[in-house]
Amino acid sequence: MSTTLVVVGSQWGDEGKGKITDYFASHADMVVRYQGGNNAGHSVAFGGKKYSLQSIPSGIFNPQTINVMGNGMVVNPVSVIAELRKLSDQGITEHNLYISTRAAMVMPWHSALDGAYEANLGKALIGTTKKGIGPCYADKYSRIGMRIGDLLEPEYFRMRLEAALAVKNPEMKMLGLPEMDADEIYNQYMEIAEQLKDRIVDTSDLINKHLQGEGNILFEGAQGMMLCIDHGTYPYVTSSTPSAASVPVGAGIAPQWIKTVAGVLKAYCTRVGEGPFPTELHDEIGDGIRERGHEYGTVTGRPRRVGWLDCCVAKYTSRLSGITNWAVTLLDVLSGIDTLRICYAYELDGKVIECPPSTIAALERCKPLYVEMPGWKEDITAVRKYEDLPENARKYLEKVEEITGVPVGLVSVGPDREQTFITSPELKKFAK
Ligand code: GDP
Ligand code: IMO
Ligand code: MG
Repeated sequence: MSTTLVVVGSQWGDEGKGKITDYFASHADMVVRYQGGNNAGHSVAFGGKKYSLQSIPSGIFNPQTINVMGNGMVVNPVSVIAELRKLSDQGITEHNLYISTRAAMVMPWHSALDGAYEANLGKALIGTTKKGIGPCYADKYSRIGMRIGDLLEPEYFRMRLEAALAVKNPEMKMLGLPEMDADEIYNQYMEIAEQLKDRIVDTSDLINKHLQGEGNILFEGAQGMMLCIDHGTYPYVTSSTPSAASVPVGAGIAPQWIKTVAGVLKAYCTRVGEGPFPTELHDEIGDGIRERGHEYGTVTGRPRRVGWLDCCVAKYTSRLSGITNWAVTLLDVLSGIDTLRICYAYELDGKVIECPPSTIAALERCKPLYVEMPGWKEDITAVRKYEDLPENARKYLEKVEEITGVPVGLVSVGPDREQTFITSPELKKFAK
């Protein structure tokens, strides 16, 4: 039987999931994305080059690895083609990629509506990526959505398109957006269908067949658990569940396949877009981290908000995803800071709590309580063994383990594939 590893974001996204997935992908039969869409921006660096992926799984750099865009995703086929073309232009020409017939399909009205909702929300805006993710998931659950498999059935596609436009055009008119033309969309999507048709399959079937084999299967989360539609900082969230709990539904497999979960944990915190962020820094330490960590969004180019590591968040997200090991990333960015802070609890209305409260109003009142840790001066980007880390860097990681109760299984000290080392037997088996 195959072994599975889920790679999930444990904060507000951009923890380095792309890098970690790529690191394990060369030893995997398959890499599966199970939620989200091209709102994700996953960076992978090796051989002196850096690549950015939005909806294609981060195993695409290994021609022997099958990459699957699962049914839980919202797939923009126009953007998939653009991504494939960009990869080819960068010299990555073998694309072992399949897309689920059941995946929700992003249509042109979704991004138009995403932009209009944000504009009309005024100060209450969410700060979305405007890729149409929310409106596409909303249509899926309203049962007026279209699916990637519809591309294979032109007559059915046309019927669904007209049904959807009968609902969407009046809405767009009301919001002052131009109405959309069925013929134009039909022609554009049928051309896309021609290019993608061989990749569109029943991916649940494909994954389940591979689960019966002997290899490793990776599930690559997008976003982070604090952006979860159910358990995140609603409404300042995305419209899916990045948790390991959504793998079975989003990939079409049974829940008992999920055993090992690597929670990707940036050594500090970042957040793009609006919403509460208890440990946010508004000083030169935060500015320094932003510059050293190149904390600017891969999708939108927006500067990321930066803060101290929040272990209330880490404890909470490890509980939600069943995280078995932390994959700590960007530890190198903390070099040179005299005193580091780790949030271990919040003070809320005079009480100490160890878990983020469940309402946004209460979370906004939370004051982080910190443990202070001495920093280290050394450049650690060339370190490849836990023992070679400066003592204070090791103490920092040990403090994270102590507060969260989850062992560190991997440490990343730079963007490159090589700047990575494993520190636990659970994760070692996925690297060979
Ligand atoms: P993802 O969305 O979780 O895949 O993360 P992003 O790719 O959006 O953001 C992570 C950024 O940090 C990217 O620019 C990576 O190349 C970079 N990165 C990943 N791991 C490390 C690390 O250990 N050190 C440094 N300095 N950069 C890293
Ligand atoms: P990766 O996979 C960071 C944020 C947006 C916004 C909110 C809703 O690269 O970690 P959406 O377009 O999803 O409706 O936007 O979620 N967001 C992300 N932030 N990393 C991401 O993905 C994100 N995907 C969405 O900034 O606040
Ligand atoms: Mg990202």
